[in-house]
Amino acid sequence: MNESEFKIKLSHITGLRSVVLEELERTGFEILEESDESLFVAFSEEIIPEVKHLKSVARAYVVRQGGKLHPTHISNHKSLLGGLIDIVIKNDKEHFKSFRINCAGSESREVKGISKYVHDTYGLEEKEDADLKIHIIKNEDVWEIGVQVTPRPLSVRDYRVVNMSGAMDPTIAYTVNSFCNLETAKSYLNVFSGSGTLPIEAGQVFPNLERLVGFDNDKKHLSLSIQNVKKAGLIKKIQIKEADIFDKPDFGKFDAIASDLPFGMMISKDEDLQKLYKAFVEYCEDKLEPDGRLVVYTSQYELIESILMKSCFRIVRTLQLKFITNANGYLRPKIIVCELKG
Ligand SMILES: C[S@@+](CC[C@H](N)C(=O)[O-])C[C@H]1O[C@@H](n2cnc3c(N)ncnc32)[C@H](O)[C@@H]1O
Repeated sequence: MNESEFKIKLSHITGLRSVVLEELERTGFEILEESDESLFVAFSEEIIPEVKHLKSVARAYVVRQGGKLHPTHISNHKSLLGGLIDIVIKNDKEHFKSFRINCAGSESREVKGISKYVHDTYGLEEKEDADLKIHIIKNEDVWEIGVQVTPRPLSVRDYRVVNMSGAMDPTIAYTVNSFCNLETAKSYLNVFSGSGTLPIEAGQVFPNLERLVGFDNDKKHLSLSIQNVKKAGLIKKIQIKEADIFDKPDFGKFDAIASDLPFGMMISKDEDLQKLYKAFVEYCEDKLEPDGRLVVYTSQYELIESILMKSCFRIVRTLQLKFITNANGYLRPKIIVCELKG
């Protein structure tokens, strides 16, 4: 392995690999290798701006890998790390004011020496919640040094005015939309729109959509979604309505319906999910165009699958995801893609 070779490392939510691969292949990236939750692509300075636009990727880093890239070696050859930092902060200096090094033995003389080098060379403050995130880690026998290419993860979108508790991860929203056949669709409905992540991601990626509608019954969520839609510059494109699924609101028929179903955690704790999911499926049977797609996302997938089995829908694809929640527990939700039976 060439130790001086730069690579781009792209990490994603477990389960999204096929979607990330598809986005990378469509965008023309050269894929080098894969590990558990990451893909590696060939580096060039020109692809950094393109990397920043990837929608399915959680975090992107410029990295070097090799058997010798341990903290002692880096502390003796600091330019190995300097080369990575230069790439990341070049043309973007004003966004990087602080740094943090994630490395075992952070109190060691070597790591302290590396910190001093970053501070003195780049004039950055060392901080826990830092802009420039540096890592020196070992995976099996291979050391990796890397620097995250953006101050915030790629999955943190600029349109999010406030983080609503229970809001969807935007890379999952992108994935749900990517299963809706939106390349050819004209109309899109988001039932249970919350803070508006799904319609915003759809509006950004599919400018061909002529009608984008979302509805929710919670005034606070509606207000948040309108702020987010405005920030995304899509206020003329996306209509957000106040409505309750049990009232069967009539906004016409749609080529695609996408939904991040309430599933108990922070949202609708006391709601009878069985009743809610049944009303949702019946509503979608009525509002989806015959050749349309319904794509749902929930942790309560056994419940929705049992209702879908008895409905006019057939399940054409499922994708199981896995990630850690803020409360340090694992969530294993599913994306379920459905079509109306012919
Ligand atoms: C999981 S959240 C959706 C989050 C959203 N995808 C986002 O990223 O912000 C589910 C939403 O369903 C809404 N909801 C719950 N029961 C409802 C009902 N009976 N009718 C309409 N909306 C409802 C909640 O207010 C909540 O905003």
